[in-house]
Amino acid sequence: MKFKQLLVILVTIPNIAFSQSVTISTPRTELIVNATPGKTLQHVYYGTRLNPSDEKLLTDIDGAKIDRFESQGLMNAYPAYGLDCPNEVAFACKHSDGNMSTDLIVDKVTTSSDVNATLTTISLKDRKYPLIVDVFYKAYSDADVIETWTSISHKEKKPITLTQFSSAFLPIRRGDVWLSSFYGSWANEARLVEEPLTQGEKVIYNRDGIRNSHTAHSEVMFSLDGKPQELNGRVIGAALCYSGNYKLRVETGDTEYHKFFAGINEDFSYYTLMPNETFVTPALALTYSNEGKSGVSRNIHSWARKYKIANGNTERRILLNSWEGVYFDINQEGMDQMMGDIASMGGELFVMDDGWFGDKYPRNIDTSSLGDWVVDSRKLPKGIEGLLADAKKHGIQFGIWIEPEMANTTSELYEKHPDWVIKAPQRDLVLGRGGTQVVLDLSNPEVQDFVFSIVDNLMAKYPEIAYIKWDANMSIMNHGSQYLPSDKQNHLFIEYHRGFSKVCERIRAKYPTLTIQACASGGGRANYGVLPYFDEFWVSDNTDALQRIFMQWGTSMFFPALTMASHISASPNHQTHRLVSLKYRADVAMSGRLGMEIQPKNMTEDEKIFCKKAIADYKRIRPIVQFGNIYRLLSPYDNKGAASLMYVNDEKSKAVFYWWRTETFCNQHMPRVLMAGLNPDRIYTIHELNRIDKQPLSYEGKSFSGKYLMEVGLEIPYTHNTDWPLQSSWSSRILLIE
Ligand code: DGJ
Repeated sequence: MKFKQLLVILVTIPNIAFSQSVTISTPRTELIVNATPGKTLQHVYYGTRLNPSDEKLLTDIDGAKIDRFESQGLMNAYPAYGLDCPNEVAFACKHSDGNMSTDLIVDKVTTSSDVNATLTTISLKDRKYPLIVDVFYKAYSDADVIETWTSISHKEKKPITLTQFSSAFLPIRRGDVWLSSFYGSWANEARLVEEPLTQGEKVIYNRDGIRNSHTAHSEVMFSLDGKPQELNGRVIGAALCYSGNYKLRVETGDTEYHKFFAGINEDFSYYTLMPNETFVTPALALTYSNEGKSGVSRNIHSWARKYKIANGNTERRILLNSWEGVYFDINQEGMDQMMGDIASMGGELFVMDDGWFGDKYPRNIDTSSLGDWVVDSRKLPKGIEGLLADAKKHGIQFGIWIEPEMANTTSELYEKHPDWVIKAPQRDLVLGRGGTQVVLDLSNPEVQDFVFSIVDNLMAKYPEIAYIKWDANMSIMNHGSQYLPSDKQNHLFIEYHRGFSKVCERIRAKYPTLTIQACASGGGRANYGVLPYFDEFWVSDNTDALQRIFMQWGTSMFFPALTMASHISASPNHQTHRLVSLKYRADVAMSGRLGMEIQPKNMTEDEKIFCKKAIADYKRIRPIVQFGNIYRLLSPYDNKGAASLMYVNDEKSKAVFYWWRTETFCNQHMPRVLMAGLNPDRIYTIHELNRIDKQPLSYEGKSFSGKYLMEVGLEIPYTHNTDWPLQSSWSSRILLIE
């Protein structure tokens, strides 16, 4: 997101050599660096906001500490390679004369502000070479997040080669620091893993080329006070805002600090920087909270809704997606029937997924047609117009699936433009999904125009389209651009994502309110590199409610509920084949952006009535879920038999509490969950949603103080009191608290 134009202050602090401490602050956090001209930039502090006298003391005392560590390069806020070879660095380059060393010192400090943020720019220059590295810190005035990144430029006579170019470096004081990170794979995204940081190096990276959050995530938390807790303890959160390959490194060596570096993954991507060219690294968003991991999540969610998610302040619609209902079996009548069904249950939008396109090559399975974005008139004789008319008839909106960055070798596009695909020179193509999928080369401006035109043509012809599901189902398998010159082949991964961002910028400039979902074989694009252009993402191709609790739990650490597409699907589930009660499926889906992914004509009337009621209730709680503050209460990863979380609105006047049983054994002992985030002095009334029990809960309609709910808590029955045919091993509850 661009720094706003409205500058109210622009200050350049004079270049005089006295010790100069620079404080970069948000309402509750601050980062202090020492930016003394002629010296290396020093990291001094990051954490809670300090009062001025403590801050002064800290910076005075830290002067001595810096001296002690300076020889190790430890507190250098942006360490460069060459004069401290044994240590990890943020930056390394080979100068045009072959010199491998860089020696960066502070040149000047500049600040500028607008209503939302203050941007501090610390210009570093090499002591001997005309190389400039600007370190940026953007501190928000109404969100506890500091974004930091760099730009690199030079005036050497010939190109230089960048071999390391982290966005940021942060030293974290050792003690009992734990790392929370997210790993996974297709259909099992965002699994939370927590570990103490020990000696050696922890590297979290991605090399997919296209999708970057299947196997790992570019967001991490550091709990500074031992084993991570949700509601207590000091925690630093960091999210790299990048859509492409990334690398996060945490080096723990023989010093008092863990050294955290984050940025683009330089593997196979060393960068040839021309004189006067500027290389900008993606931002690392940092936050700090002394209210545990949930505190970090709340900070990030609030910043993201305001600044980092397309239409982040707009309620998301309740939709039915056709994929698991009909897969490729798209036809006019079928779409009309699904639209009618979701409309009758109170849904607001229908999304036609894969399978609607292809003329010469119809898209009946995944082996053909990507690139040929024309309606298959055999399946849809009335075209998109017919579908839009159906949507209008049912009083809902219409959305459509595309996979614009891709083609199949069996496609008219590939026949016309084999030169547009990513391919290693002299090699046969390694093909993706369906044995025929290829990736279009977004480093090529002509390809960028083509990808933009896919959305632009659809929207020009059918302006009523309200939603696009933008899929991406292949990695960059072949290293080779047919567009980039031979001496820039190393730029492929970076240029791809520059091209991708350019296309997204153009789309957003022209269609700012169009809802766009980032899907990438499920949750491959959950990151803050794409979210400025996308309203939400598909959390996973796995819609099994139980496994979703684990995946959505991990995802919620950095992403607010309104970004997490969460759908009620069929039972048995299509991925795990698990039989799960409809109530449980609904209770899980209603903790994210609710949708459905099911063939409604296979549902019973009772099931439809249940969903209609659930949708109506979701509309009631939607502002709390989508804009509220998250408090995770009982983690599914702790294996206590249940999981629980809640959302509380800003005023603390309304909350929604979720409780899901995650395993079922007779006479099992489970904890009584204490609520959080409420006003202790306020009186709240409890009302259960999606009730299936014959009798209401004993506390239905009763009122309790926030203090009671947070310090005593409510006893949640482990099972449901239903007639025998409705009995199942699944139990869950949603309580509206207001
Ligand atoms: C992968 C996505 O994740 C699915 O939801 C679906 O859209 C398919 N692609 C369609 O091919």
